[in-house]
Amino acid sequence: MIEHVDIVCGLAWGDEAKGKITSELSAKENYDFVCRWSGGNNAGHTVYISGKQYKTHMIPTGVFYGIKSIIGPACVVDPFSFLEEIAYLEKNGFDTSCIKISPKAHIVTQTHIREDREQYHKQLGTTARGIAPCYRDKAARKGCQAKDESLLAPYLWDEKLYGRILCEGAQGAWLDLDYGNYPYVTSSVTLPYGACSLGFPPQAIRNIYGSAKIYDTRSGIDPDFPESLLADKQLLKIADAGCEYGVTTGRRRKVKWLNLHKLIDAVNLTGSTHIIISKTDVIKSTGVFKIWDSHLIPFESIDDMLSYIDVRLRSSCSLIKSIRFSYSPERI
Ligand code: IMP
Ligand code: MG
Repeated sequence: MIEHVDIVCGLAWGDEAKGKITSELSAKENYDFVCRWSGGNNAGHTVYISGKQYKTHMIPTGVFYGIKSIIGPACVVDPFSFLEEIAYLEKNGFDTSCIKISPKAHIVTQTHIREDREQYHKQLGTTARGIAPCYRDKAARKGCQAKDESLLAPYLWDEKLYGRILCEGAQGAWLDLDYGNYPYVTSSVTLPYGACSLGFPPQAIRNIYGSAKIYDTRSGIDPDFPESLLADKQLLKIADAGCEYGVTTGRRRKVKWLNLHKLIDAVNLTGSTHIIISKTDVIKSTGVFKIWDSHLIPFESIDDMLSYIDVRLRSSCSLIKSIRFSYSPERI
């Protein structure tokens, strides 16, 4: 029987420190399962365990805590990259026997990767991991499922979830296939309702942890984040202070002042109950405090800016139970 489900989701364009939040929750909440419900190794999660940094792309954060870690049926798996990640985790002393894949997950092939690299990566700024061609073939009902890929046989798991479950979002609300700035989106459902594809009803959901940053960033191409942003000295300073480079691609992310309207929409769209806004220390270190709320608003101090955000979110999003402003990943 399912006791409850908690979900961590991104409230922006990915890179909102979801890895940090799932790691913190996995450590303290006693979950039976930590699950990924969408996407593939286009994601990049950075977690800190006992002060040491680890980066994963596909494998849920539960593995760092010995919790069963499930890759769900709506995910796409590149078997070679998956096995590399297993080897990386084992080399670092983690038990990988808790990692399982749904037989219904779809396989990213070398052909998918080549097509993505040669076509979509240039046109749309994708991560070139074969994600769009794989989901396309899945939708056209000519894809290959994990159950038919012999390399993955030892990892297949076709049982029902039970107990306490944490669902780990990938990407973010504004990269969702339906809600993002199409076609500059990813090919999966990044919103929390997509987590139900793991095999539980919406009523089982308890908390939704919405993760955001104190400024907006975008990796990849998006007309809403023009190249000219890379010439703005204040924004570049934030990018440097915040180490805004992609975990998966190493590309420089474009930075904008936090768009409060978008954040409020994302909180309401995802139904987030607990909001975590990270990297406040980065903005503090630059000494310039601005957000976009119909127009650009400058603040005298970081505290003024945070209380403005807090008041606006609470008055515009009725489901919010808590708002936490946090720091860079390693500082929690
Ligand atoms: P794809 O998911 O590789 O097809 O890439 C589509 C778009 O989503 C591109 O703009 C990518 O930069 C972006 N994207 C995909 N995954 C992530 C992620 O984990 N973090 C940030 N951006 C991502
Ligand atoms: Mg990430």
